[in-house]
Amino acid sequence: MVPSNQPLWGLFYLSNSSQPFTIRRMIIKDYDKFIIGGLGGEKKLRGTVEIKGAKNAALKAMAAAVLFDGLVTIDNVPETKDIHTMSEILKSLGTRVEWKESTNKGTKVLEIDSSKITSTDIDLELAKSMRASVVLTGPILARFGKVSFPAPGGCVIGERPIDLFLEGYQKMGAKINLDGDIYKIEAQNGLEGADIFFDIQSVGGTETLMMVAVLAKGTTILKNCATEPEISSVAEWLNSCGANISGIGTTTLLIKGTDGKPFSSNNSYKTIPDRIEAGSFLILGALCARELQITKCKPDHMEAVINLLKKSGVSIKVGQEEIIITNNSKDRVPFKAVNVRTHEYPGFPTDLQAPMAVFLTQALGESSVFETIFEGRFKYAEDLIGMGADIKILNSREIVVKGPSVLKQLPEGEDLYAHDIRAGFAVVLAALVSKGTSKINNINLIDRGYQRLEERLKLLGADVRRV
Ligand code: UD1
Repeated sequence: MVPSNQPLWGLFYLSNSSQPFTIRRMIIKDYDKFIIGGLGGEKKLRGTVEIKGAKNAALKAMAAAVLFDGLVTIDNVPETKDIHTMSEILKSLGTRVEWKESTNKGTKVLEIDSSKITSTDIDLELAKSMRASVVLTGPILARFGKVSFPAPGGCVIGERPIDLFLEGYQKMGAKINLDGDIYKIEAQNGLEGADIFFDIQSVGGTETLMMVAVLAKGTTILKNCATEPEISSVAEWLNSCGANISGIGTTTLLIKGTDGKPFSSNNSYKTIPDRIEAGSFLILGALCARELQITKCKPDHMEAVINLLKKSGVSIKVGQEEIIITNNSKDRVPFKAVNVRTHEYPGFPTDLQAPMAVFLTQALGESSVFETIFEGRFKYAEDLIGMGADIKILNSREIVVKGPSVLKQLPEGEDLYAHDIRAGFAVVLAALVSKGTSKINNINLIDRGYQRLEERLKLLGADVRRV
């Protein structure tokens, strides 16, 4: 089903050569698609999948590198398109960014040297392709007293305002001008600590103002903060490099600033495992695998999804850093319907809402899916309906899924679309579960968040091709 807002940005391609890692920016490749042979409801996949570092943590550590007057190393970095976009933005400011092999086999290290930044203007085109670029505005403003950037882009999942960032900057003494669609922000006399209450718990808002506050003058108190593990891990790393953040992991952060002095200590940041990627594979395992072992993950960060899948009848064994899902063909009891309500961490993540809805098409009974974080995150539902799912879209926040349904490939001439990163994974799941062969367009959005998904699925026995 053709989306109304099909993005046109190009893809980054990674060479397979060893270090230094080379990246080529290609012009638009609108022919990158997945062709997926469906399993027709059989649970045939089997094997092990290693979880990569969390892109949503690595991106923030990359932004935080601007707070350092020297080299920062970030380990366990996923090779996803968003990471390359952030790296391009950093380079355009004058930082040196290099990929290195990690001593940790199969992972990569990023080296970022921000000692020679020459520009505080964030590139318009690059920033528009990724909302997380807005997080970079905080560290640039904190370090150089000014920043300019375009209204941010990113996954098209409803209204994504930046009012919380702007209010925070103003409270800390910055002046904001909007010139066309370019924000120009200045704090000529540096930024002052402030008492800031977030009206909404915002991941990016919390991270950004935290990164501003660590270099500001005096003490900042951030209240009603988001508590996602990615925020805490970056905060703990900053503390190990000389920041003074207390209350980490709670909704109130108290931050004592350095009065403009950048950090110089070079403690490497180790990216935490991607809980959203692990959750995505968990749902895939429940739907499509005889047995799936998910390794190098952090089950403690995934309680909401593990809990809900267990309630629905999925057999899940949780270890220290691994999860095993088994589907025993002898006692095939259908999964049960469960209700999903997305919530800030530690609640059910909005980023797993779409994959979970695909799961619910295969569960017995009626499930409601209530999206509390973003409006407009149900675009994939029409694709699922086209494949035979029984889904009622009640409004922009709620759908009802009745299962189980037999999913089939779309009628001749119709293709599936990745509407955003996670909805992209959801249609991959639907294609795998279904009967027939599906074509998925727009997979550059999937590449933004999942590293070489087709290769990892093939290793589990899936019939997936990139064409
Ligand atoms: C981050 C994640 C994204 C995830 C989301 C929620 C990254 C790169 N992305 O996005 O994958 O889906 O958290 O877990 O880490 N809001 C405002 N004003 C603002 C900022 C946000 O109203 O200034 C609203 C948003 O529209 C949304 C809510 O706050 O309704 C939460 O968004 P937020 O937590 O900020 O999401 P992101 O940081 O963009």
